Amino acid sequence: MSRKKLKRFEELATFSNAFTRESVGPGGKWLRDFFGNDRPIILELGCGKGEYSLALARLYPDRSILGVDRKGERVWKGAKVALDEGLSNVAFLRAKIEDLEEYLDEGQVEQIWMPFPDPLPKKRQVKHRLVSPAFLEIYRRLLGPSGCLRIKSDDRDFIDYAVEVVEAHGGTVECLDMDIHAESRADGLLAVQTTFESRHIEAGRNIKYLSCRLT
Ligand SMILES: C[S@@+](CC[C@H](N)C(=O)[O-])C[C@H]1O[C@@H](n2cnc3c(N)ncnc32)[C@H](O)[C@@H]1O
Repeated sequence: MSRKKLKRFEELATFSNAFTRESVGPGGKWLRDFFGNDRPIILELGCGKGEYSLALARLYPDRSILGVDRKGERVWKGAKVALDEGLSNVAFLRAKIEDLEEYLDEGQVEQIWMPFPDPLPKKRQVKHRLVSPAFLEIYRRLLGPSGCLRIKSDDRDFIDYAVEVVEAHGGTVECLDMDIHAESRADGLLAVQTTFESRHIEAGRNIKYLSCRLT
């Protein structure tokens, strides 16, 4: 591990807004304690440097936001910006998404943002895609009845797969846009650009958006 990475890992452990599996108890009490309320939270999954978590926290000071990623160095970035800006309504959790039910209660989430999940195109990778049936089951249990899942991706095959799995499991597609930046259609939260989104745009790829309900 590089010295810079090591330093960030050490620093992350001291951040008041960053958590790991070791620092949270079972269930979602740690989040109610952190935010000081029991409002349902907005989740950003595979948050990377947390661009959506930060944008959501700035836009909705009265809502509680949690960014989740398994990579500590990326979580460090989002948590650091939140601390520097004094954003107290956002936290970050370094964890695997497949384990989320250990750290959150059923129905504790009001919506999920998933910007640029790894497409994992190979057949043997299907079960690791963040929209495979097993993952959708986790989201369905975490989301309240009116909760929705919002995905941005440059990858047409991934979006097609997500639609197929959502519809096959009783969910509904609410919005499907295959080129959100055409005619400047993306405004508000959709206009937020993550690190991976900027790379895809620079490479000339269209950005797709899918919003769906799982129940
Ligand atoms: C392609 S990157 C996108 C990062 C960021 N959302 C962006 O748009 O810049 C995918 C992210 O998902 C995270 N990730 C993938 N699978 C995960 C899992 N099972 N649990 C937690 N994080 C995961 C990776 O660590 C990575 O940061």
